[in-house]
Amino acid sequence: MEATVTKASNPQVQILPDLEAISHQAASFFVAISRNSIATKGRFAVALSGGSTPRRLYTLLGSDPYRDKVEWRHVHFFWADERCVPKEDDESNFRLAYEAFLSKITVPASNIHRVKGEEDPEKGAKDYEDDLRKFFGMSGLPAFDLMILGMGEDGHTASLFPGSKSLEETIRLAFPVYMKRPKRDRVTLTLQVLNNSAQILFLVSGPSKAKIVHDVLGNEGKTERYPAGLINPSNGNIVWLIDREAARNLKRSFHDPSIKHSTD
Ligand code: 6PG
Repeated sequence: MEATVTKASNPQVQILPDLEAISHQAASFFVAISRNSIATKGRFAVALSGGSTPRRLYTLLGSDPYRDKVEWRHVHFFWADERCVPKEDDESNFRLAYEAFLSKITVPASNIHRVKGEEDPEKGAKDYEDDLRKFFGMSGLPAFDLMILGMGEDGHTASLFPGSKSLEETIRLAFPVYMKRPKRDRVTLTLQVLNNSAQILFLVSGPSKAKIVHDVLGNEGKTERYPAGLINPSNGNIVWLIDREAARNLKRSFHDPSIKHSTD
């Protein structure tokens, strides 16, 4: 399945049979967007997420046929968020991507811009922001070519949780997040950075997401209550890849022209 990079209506929603189909579609997008960015700018800057949903996508990217379709030496990897744990920890978003595909491709170490989860959240956010400034320039906002996001059952995305102060942040690029229950501090890119991306790809799978998918995408005025619903890039596209189980409450929107169903 070849994906093309076009200006889509925002948001563009694709409902696919299952996580496997989402992951292949996302891998095709990744290849297409990387080629387009490398052809026009000489590099591709992507931000990865953690969680369980993107694991299969990452595994696909590190295997045939996708692995050989990307010019990895021109790809720069960042993270939408990170948990404040050492990079060897099971909870580390860096570790997830490293084990699934970064360890299986040839990419200069200097292209991997991980968040230092081993630091406390404030220092981790500060160091990450310095790295972002060095790469994207000292003024203006970073402009990612591709931002890969997931959505929690509470509508969080990256580590932007409902009601969090980070949602109002207009100066910092990366923000510390202190979580009590469960105790798992984090560092997240801020909303303004996510919304400055050229392409945003949401991956959502499974029946536990059906309610929040409906609340965020169901056109019933609830969208902006949730951080994921605040993702609306000013100069970019958003594509939601959702599996049937997660999309089952969206049935009433079947005739919306921006929602495509696939029976692959
Ligand atoms: C993380 C994330 C987070 C994730 C959602 C969805 O580090 O946990 O980046 O925002 O994308 O919680 O997670 P699942 O894919 O596990 O549903």
